[in-house]
Amino acid sequence: MRATTFPLADSMRRLGTESAFVVLARAKALEAQGRSIIHLEIGEPDFNTPEHIKDAAIRSLHANRTHYTPAAGIMELRTAIAAYVERTRGVHVSTDQIVVTPGAKPMIAAVLMALLNPGDEVIIPDPAYPAYRSITTYVGATPVSLPLLEAKDFRFEIETLEASITPRTKILVLNSPHNPTGGILTPGDIAAIADVVRRHDIMVISDEIYSRDAYDRPFASYYGLANNPEHTILIDGCSKTWAMTGWRLGFGVMPAYIAEAAAALILNTVSCTATFVQDAAIQALEGPDEAVQAMCTEFLRRRNLLVAGLNKIPGVSCRTPGGAFYVFPNVSRIEPDDIKLANYLLETAGVAVLGGSTFGPHGKGFLRLSYANSEENLREALARMTKALAEYRGS
Ligand SMILES: Cc1ncc(COP(=O)(O)O)c(C=O)c1O
Repeated sequence: MRATTFPLADSMRRLGTESAFVVLARAKALEAQGRSIIHLEIGEPDFNTPEHIKDAAIRSLHANRTHYTPAAGIMELRTAIAAYVERTRGVHVSTDQIVVTPGAKPMIAAVLMALLNPGDEVIIPDPAYPAYRSITTYVGATPVSLPLLEAKDFRFEIETLEASITPRTKILVLNSPHNPTGGILTPGDIAAIADVVRRHDIMVISDEIYSRDAYDRPFASYYGLANNPEHTILIDGCSKTWAMTGWRLGFGVMPAYIAEAAAALILNTVSCTATFVQDAAIQALEGPDEAVQAMCTEFLRRRNLLVAGLNKIPGVSCRTPGGAFYVFPNVSRIEPDDIKLANYLLETAGVAVLGGSTFGPHGKGFLRLSYANSEENLREALARMTKALAEYRGS
């Protein structure tokens, strides 16, 4: 007799998860029981999508733009993306190098799947956005940790990168501004990384989805500065910049033969990205920029508030992140087990945060807090954390 459950594919055991979604579900369950929860776990702007973008989607729907599109995206959007990349990265790209996907995450999965064979190695910053590692292991390739150092504002040592490269290394993942630490690559870092990449046959995936969330200095784009388009894949999208997480619109720029392979994966899975969302994305890329700048100014104010507040809590030390909308305070003097401490803060103080080690072993002893929340909520979260951490006795 067969067991009551049907066997899943072995590969499912190699697929990871994303703690932000797991903790969000737990926090929502507590809220349903009547608890007051401040959400600092999920990485999405709390702002509404700008009106002119919503209007473009509504116009598109009324024009019955509700049918399938080419797998790689409509030509009008790919043309707009090419112009955006030229404007923001200073690189001329052609539309056959561009693929549009429902969110940046499927774009990351598609390029990893298009390039990796079992046994290949992928150098991934540690800590990092979980999807890079998860898809790498899912396809049978091996993630290699590139430690980010708190003392270097969560940048890595170039010597460590060079020492991590083996004949099996196929891909290096970069993400600046960085999730979960808020760290950024400097132009000097980029020049040094580009030099290493030129000496080895490696493809770089540069995830620049937080490119418009850079605060203290202008954003330095690896895609723009490395000047190595045959060995670079740019990932970007609308989710963070235009507060469009739920719309699902991401894109990638890459050598045309990889774009063709990635589009084939999209064709075989989701077919294409929603037509009216693609129309709205054109408005995002080409329309007025004031809303984006206003969000950035507000994030900067909140970052300063949160960093200052965290550094006042005994036992907590927090670097000032240069970008994205996360802080990554070191809490190891209070509790080295960051996941335990995150659970404690959720259950005792009603503050939902993520344990740093859910982003990789080098995140141990840190928490990730998103400041995509109101100033009032951030102040309340700081007050609750200050009290709860003072009362923390371990277990
Ligand atoms: C570094 C990074 N890349 C990609 C994504 C995915 O973005 P999207 O919502 O467009 O799939 C995220 C989302 O949190 C992210 O933090």
